[in-house]
Amino acid sequence: MLAARPDRAARWIVAVATSALPWIAAAQSDFQGATHMVPFEEDTISYNKTPSTGPITRLQSRLDRGEVKLKFDPQTGWRDSVLAALEISPKSQTLLFSKTSLQRERIAPQTPRAVFFNDDVYVGWIPGAPVMEFSEVDAKLGGVFYTLEQTATDQPKFVRNNQCLECHASAKTMGVPGHLIRSFKTDEQGIIDLITGVSEVNHRTPLEDRWGGWYVTGTHGKVTHRGNLFGKAAFAKAEEKPNYLGNLTSLKKLVDLDSYATPHSDIVALMVLEHEAHMHNFLTRLHYETTMALSRYQHIRYLRSMSEGFLKYLLFTEETPLKAKVRGTSGYADYFATLGPKDRKGRSLRQLDLETRLFKYPCSFLIYSEAFDLLPKPMREHVLQRLHEVLTGQDTSPEFANIPAETRRAILEILVETKPNLPGYWRGEKQRAERQPASEEAR
Ligand code: HEC
Repeated sequence: MLAARPDRAARWIVAVATSALPWIAAAQSDFQGATHMVPFEEDTISYNKTPSTGPITRLQSRLDRGEVKLKFDPQTGWRDSVLAALEISPKSQTLLFSKTSLQRERIAPQTPRAVFFNDDVYVGWIPGAPVMEFSEVDAKLGGVFYTLEQTATDQPKFVRNNQCLECHASAKTMGVPGHLIRSFKTDEQGIIDLITGVSEVNHRTPLEDRWGGWYVTGTHGKVTHRGNLFGKAAFAKAEEKPNYLGNLTSLKKLVDLDSYATPHSDIVALMVLEHEAHMHNFLTRLHYETTMALSRYQHIRYLRSMSEGFLKYLLFTEETPLKAKVRGTSGYADYFATLGPKDRKGRSLRQLDLETRLFKYPCSFLIYSEAFDLLPKPMREHVLQRLHEVLTGQDTSPEFANIPAETRRAILEILVETKPNLPGYWRGEKQRAERQPASEEAR
């Protein structure tokens, strides 16, 4: 039923082509060795043999026990019911017309793939396609992939599918099973042009380079992007008249979206998605490397540059500055901001700025996620200790110098009030006694 086209050769071409472009190299800085494959099928991680405990597995168990029932719609299949069961807002919808995935032949500018997401699941839906696609975040395994057949039955089954790793575990996902967000120009059919693009879009990517192959609804002033454009003629026109398909608040003149959950491909949802996907890959990489280091050396001293790179991403130190106000169309920004948690002053890490940067208080909301909390203990403690040093201003290194003192203080105050189980020294308790062992461990 499904045609698998895991084109390894094409991926290498992409890797070579993109690594030759200096502007991409400058924009991306994780840590040395960020892209080589981690041997996750071997015993220490044992990806294939380990059952997931993530949100899709939990939903399947609830379905099997009859605690929840999904409703099949003849037009859209399980889409709306499964989104509700996974607590994913339709406002998170983004639309992608570049031909990627196991169902690539179904995806085109007239039938884009809809991607929905929350903090730990990503969902792909294509009108009329035989399966829905899911990637979940398991705190230990990282990205785990499933399909759900789009046929009416009393017992819908999410089927784990490791074939997806042909694309979803590569240098572009930090060498671990993970999530992909790219930006490539496409032709009128949605076939991508491998020479022009960014294969790992995240919050560091300039807006000008984003959204090739995606629809974008929302306003962004004079800043240009590559969204809403397909085919040579469209790109040529955009050269002459920048933003001729930018600042769109409706896609009506480009595509008929009647069967879709919403008519939006919200610019703010896209930006949060891009921050999140790379953050998830980084958490997985950190988890795997820590597990392997502890098993091999019983310490994590060799992982210092990786944990510093992680901290920089967590705190958005290299985020691309916004040069104009960004506004979405689906209400995603307001919905997302209400999810909290909020401190007593009503502040939250999910509050968006959208004037000069993505978030008002730039520390990733995924610090509340299970994937963060279940990092192996020495790494979790080390990251929290370094974060505390940066937020209290004890750390004066140039890497974090661009975070203003009042921003550091606000993030510190928000976390102390909203994040459970922080070590006591965050609240000024027993400072020395608790901090000493963690710093010994990591240095
Ligand atoms: C031929 C390569 C390829 C295969 C095989 C593939 N994908 Fe993907 N997938 C992609 C690319 C590329 C993207 C990012 C789209 C973009 O930004 O252009 C993506 C994105 C996604 C997303 C959106 C969020 C994320 O995790 O990146 C989901 C969900 C997804 N794929 C699920 C799956 C599932 C489930 C399978 C297996 C049934 C699968 N994919 C197989 C290439 C592939």
